[in-house]
Amino acid sequence: MNISDRERVFTLRGEDERGASDLDDTLLLIPGPTNLSKRVREVMAGPQLPHVGSEFYSMFRETVGLARYVFKNEKGDQFVFTGSGTIGMESSVVSLVSRGERTLTLINGYFGHRMLMLNQVHGAKADKLEFTGGKAADPDSLRSQLRKAKYSAVFITHVDTSSSVLNPVRELVEECAKAGVAAVVDSVCAIGGLPLDFDSLGADIVFTASQKALAGPPGAVLVAVSKRAMEKMEKRKSPIESYYMNLLRWKPVMDDPKMYLATPATQVLQALREALLEAKEEGIENRWARHRKLGEITRASVEGWGQRFVAEEGHRADTVTSFWVEEGKAGPIQKTLESEHHVMVSRGIYDDKDRMIRIGHFGTLQPEALRKALGSMGEVMEELGVSAHQVAVAKRRSRR
Ligand SMILES: Cc1ncc(COP(=O)(O)O)c(C=O)c1O
Repeated sequence: MNISDRERVFTLRGEDERGASDLDDTLLLIPGPTNLSKRVREVMAGPQLPHVGSEFYSMFRETVGLARYVFKNEKGDQFVFTGSGTIGMESSVVSLVSRGERTLTLINGYFGHRMLMLNQVHGAKADKLEFTGGKAADPDSLRSQLRKAKYSAVFITHVDTSSSVLNPVRELVEECAKAGVAAVVDSVCAIGGLPLDFDSLGADIVFTASQKALAGPPGAVLVAVSKRAMEKMEKRKSPIESYYMNLLRWKPVMDDPKMYLATPATQVLQALREALLEAKEEGIENRWARHRKLGEITRASVEGWGQRFVAEEGHRADTVTSFWVEEGKAGPIQKTLESEHHVMVSRGIYDDKDRMIRIGHFGTLQPEALRKALGSMGEVMEELGVSAHQVAVAKRRSRR
């Protein structure tokens, strides 16, 4: 797809597709946002916290410290500020890459395309290496591409939420390091649910958003930046072409929350702090293990239904699962599941809207709740006649 295709705003779901369920008891199995824990919801309902005063300053410092904990970032700089995951993507590009520099974006789905577009928008000579058909990015292909041109940065999606492809991030970052190229990792659909150790990974920028595996409300972006990348930004010949998305401007605020750049979404940050505290109480390694289980449970169900995964074997994420269904069935599955069982899942993006289902299984979700919801989903699939057998019969008929 070309850039103008990707510039369109698209509808993930319309009013008409919404089932009749009450949101209060709906299980969100969409790929973000997730259900919020009681603790997080209570925090959000509290009195307005001003962004000046010791209560905010200490809350903010604690939030940044907790962000370091979930990224395993002791060596680099840590940022937390208001904005969605896209602000994480765009601030990485605009802060690190100067106009005219050559960059490479690895693409396994919609969010890779968005990253490429952001590089184009900000004037990079933006090359891409695309892996289609549910394939993960291949370190050998990256190595040979890095030999062909002098790149200043490579952009990698940890898990592309559209295809649910999990990339071998460590190997890819290693190739970048060997070639002396900066590596930026979009870990929006991974951090908190999938193993990531910023200090040992060696990437230059890794970012995520509050509303996915961290189980906070949407509205905060968390970015880890290596000392090397901070130096690169400091030494740029041309200034960073953004006010709000300029990481150098945010640095003093991270060091001292009394500094003002823009009014933070204080409730969102308070809620994020609570969600991060819950992650720490669980223990990040335990959280990764729980997500591994959630991934296994989901994959076993999809296999049981006889459906085909979008992502190739060995590269299926433990945070989101995408699978193909018979053309035209994705809408009815989504709608019936929501209205009859109060479980919300997502459909594919763009052309895949009617033939792909995406299940988000992250955050504070427990295996038992997931098993129950997938049981309901199995019933819906059966009710609607969506099964591998049905698909095979339909194909045979269409060939006649
Ligand atoms: C992998 C990935 N990157 C970036 C984004 C953009 O985040 P946001 O929608 O919060 O701007 C998303 C959102 O789903 C995502 O899944």
